[in-house]
Amino acid sequence: MPGKTQSMVFDQASRPFALYLHWPFCRAKCPYCDFNSHVSNDVDTETFGDALCSEMTHMASLMPSRPPLSSLFFGGGTPSLMPPALVERLIRHAEDLFGFIGDIEITAEANPTSVEAKAMLGFQKAGVNRVSMGVQSLDDLGLKFLGREHSAADALKALDKVNKAFDRVSIDLIYALPDQSPKAWQAMLSQALSFDLGHLSLYQLTIENGTVFHTRQRRGEVMALNDDRAADLYEMTQQMTNDAGLPSYEISNHAALGQECRHNLTYWQAGDWLGVGPGAHGRFALFDKSKNLAIRNATVTRRNPAGWLDAVAAKGHGIDETQIDSPADWASEMVMMGLRLTNGIDLGVIENLCGPCGDWLYGDGVEQVIAAGWLKRMPNQSTLIASDDGRLRLNHILSTILR
Ligand SMILES: C[S@@+](CC[C@H](N)C(=O)[O-])C[C@H]1O[C@@H](n2cnc3c(N)ncnc32)[C@H](O)[C@@H]1O
Ligand code: SF4
Repeated sequence: MPGKTQSMVFDQASRPFALYLHWPFCRAKCPYCDFNSHVSNDVDTETFGDALCSEMTHMASLMPSRPPLSSLFFGGGTPSLMPPALVERLIRHAEDLFGFIGDIEITAEANPTSVEAKAMLGFQKAGVNRVSMGVQSLDDLGLKFLGREHSAADALKALDKVNKAFDRVSIDLIYALPDQSPKAWQAMLSQALSFDLGHLSLYQLTIENGTVFHTRQRRGEVMALNDDRAADLYEMTQQMTNDAGLPSYEISNHAALGQECRHNLTYWQAGDWLGVGPGAHGRFALFDKSKNLAIRNATVTRRNPAGWLDAVAAKGHGIDETQIDSPADWASEMVMMGLRLTNGIDLGVIENLCGPCGDWLYGDGVEQVIAAGWLKRMPNQSTLIASDDGRLRLNHILSTILR
């Protein structure tokens, strides 16, 4: 079990540091989505902006010694519904509080409608330099099944506009819909690759608890492709994106070299980030000099937007839960998140921060999954990487190797 190390090297300044801002509102609730999103057409954006700024100031106080931000991410919900002036206000507030590294990545998630594509031009003036657009499908039947409000033609127009304005654009597609044939997915993915974007997020449809799709599935409807056929589409996805120069760097994310999403890498590499807004999660390590130990902290804010606003008005933040992770929990976080990445994990880095892994990681479990071909130990002995097959069975690998 990991524990304290005597010779820890902890350099806060060299750790990636990011800020996540959550905008929890959408025009409609999609039937597959379990994100913290709420339908509202009359948001008091002024009040919300004040509260986001207050909470940001509070979160900054939790990390007194911190490097400048390397990434800022507007996620949702639907951040493309935010007024550009509010985005600008939040970016300026973040810059005043934290400072930005020279080439900071500032991403906004956008839905692909003409209004939102236009709003993105305002976001760009405010400082946003990367757009992640939720296209979801390039055919109208797929979009209808997913309960989306836009058509494929709308998405293509919006994408064209945004792609002309921004250097860095990514789109999200959801595949493995019920009855989706390999041929249909191959055609859609070829079309997506023809846009010549530097980044694609390609998610297999998952049926999440508490969603409309989950209810329909419980009633007996087939809501997603079966696992074997979905695995075939996954394999095809790896092959096609590789051939097109956009290999996967994470289970569902593909990028040209240098176009990886720095923000999400901060999560997967267990870096430090603050989460602001309803239902936002933050995780960051603080160094305790007296113990020569880095301590991993976690925060979660109130999910309900009205409740969150009340909490921020009363105490300056909406944090409902704070947690200090044990070294073993932090090591598990690094393993769980890091094995999603094609570069895998470096046990040396984990042991430096969390203490010797000992039996915990080097036991029979690791050898079993290596023997099954799902995990590879690299020649340096310190790097573990999940194989393509392994990344499809990550939950199984994790339950075998983590005690
Ligand atoms: C925060 S959400 C969406 C952002 C934006 N509001 C939109 O809908 O385009 C981020 C992405 O997660 C993916 N996603 C959400 N729920 C999913 C599910 N049940 N299965 C697969 N992908 C999902 C979608 O591709 C979505 O674009
Ligand atoms: S998928 Fe996007 S638009 Fe749909 S409910 Fe979720 S966050 Fe909102």
